[in-house]
Amino acid sequence: MEKLLIAGGKPLSGTVTISGAKNSAVALIPAAILAESTVILDNLPDLSDVAIYTELLEELNATVERKDDQMIIDPSALRSVHMPNGNVKKLRASYYLMGALLGRFGEAVIGLPGGCNFEPRPIDQHIKGFEALGARVSNEAGAIHIRATELRGAKIYLDVVSVGATINIMLAASRAKGVTIIENAAKEPEIIDVATLLNSMGAKIIGVGTETIRIEGVNEMHGCRHSIIPDRIQAGTYMIAAAATRGDVLVDNVIPKHLEAISAKLLEMGVHIEEQDEAIRVIGRPEYEPVDVRALVYPGFATDIQSPMCSLLTQSRGTSILTDYVYSSRFKYVPELTRMGANIKLEGRSAIVEGGPLYAADVRATDLRAGAALVVAALTVTSGGITEISGVEYIDRGYDRLVENLSRMGAEIWRK
Ligand code: EPU
Repeated sequence: MEKLLIAGGKPLSGTVTISGAKNSAVALIPAAILAESTVILDNLPDLSDVAIYTELLEELNATVERKDDQMIIDPSALRSVHMPNGNVKKLRASYYLMGALLGRFGEAVIGLPGGCNFEPRPIDQHIKGFEALGARVSNEAGAIHIRATELRGAKIYLDVVSVGATINIMLAASRAKGVTIIENAAKEPEIIDVATLLNSMGAKIIGVGTETIRIEGVNEMHGCRHSIIPDRIQAGTYMIAAAATRGDVLVDNVIPKHLEAISAKLLEMGVHIEEQDEAIRVIGRPEYEPVDVRALVYPGFATDIQSPMCSLLTQSRGTSILTDYVYSSRFKYVPELTRMGANIKLEGRSAIVEGGPLYAADVRATDLRAGAALVVAALTVTSGGITEISGVEYIDRGYDRLVENLSRMGAEIWRK
């Protein structure tokens, strides 16, 4: 298995251009199969999750073509295919095929999703939504079977604010008869991105970005062209890496509004932040103040950024507290940071982080964002040595051209 090797201690400097958002792409690609004609997605990130989704659509008999950062999906010959095993198990977001196939064919058989298993991640709210729309749902030998003779609009209150459930219900409800209302919906920018695509395909969705979404079902949806929003998690990771290495980096092709929570926290630590129209410049300082960070649903501080943020907190003078209110135990990376010399105590859903230097070590990424935490940590090491990170396949799921981007900004990082 490949490893990432990092000789830290080099301040990052220069410009990094952010690609399209992974968590949008993995929802937009299955959304495209609700159309009867060609959908073109621009600003597509080059990630292993996107490659797996390409194969999934091909298994459904869609024609998929990729040119640079563009994906052309022709779903006109789409077939309803049962997928109890195989590629669906390789990524979490395969659950969006449930909503999309249910909307298109009135049935779906999809194996329970895989992906980053940093803690149990139930899909009960997705299922509750499908049932409210009139589907029968059963779990047979680890695959979810969903069938509806007719999908009918309904009022659905989500018990937990869920990105996946909100999007999955929007997908199915777009082709239901009548009006669906989702209450207590998630508000993440990726949800707005999916609704924008669906509306361009002929859906009638309003209220996205608020907690109440109204979807009026339509009989037919058509192709369109759509540009994927920039990846705010990749952007946030580079902002953190710039601060952690006391660098000076322009994070380009971003929507600064999507990064407000992270910009605010970095400012509070003493990092210099300059916001431009579509870029953020981050200039590090020699010393940082400790801060408390609470990972929350959007527009709060993203849970996907709390892991790399933890590595930055080790660089502050004093004690910081990092609490994740979205996932209760997303801290599998903490023992790995401890191997690098970090002083972190776990208490319930919080990590208590004492500032201090990190050292090179052999560590393992246990999931995607854990990998990002280890990369940031390794970049801060000024005492020499090489950090070897295994589990690179997780990092490749969500960071487009990571080695190239960091090398261009002066980092010593390579694959072996
Ligand atoms: N939850 C339930 N029941 C459900 C669905 C969710 O109890 O039916 C709980 C989860 O266990 C969690 C909370 O609700 O505690 C929020 O989960 P959510 O459904 O919002 O997460 P998700 O849709 O499965 C997406 C991203 C994650 C990101 C979360 C939270 C994708 C493909 N994944 O997951 O991204 O952490 O939202 O923002 O969009 C990542 O990119 O590394 C990643 C894990």
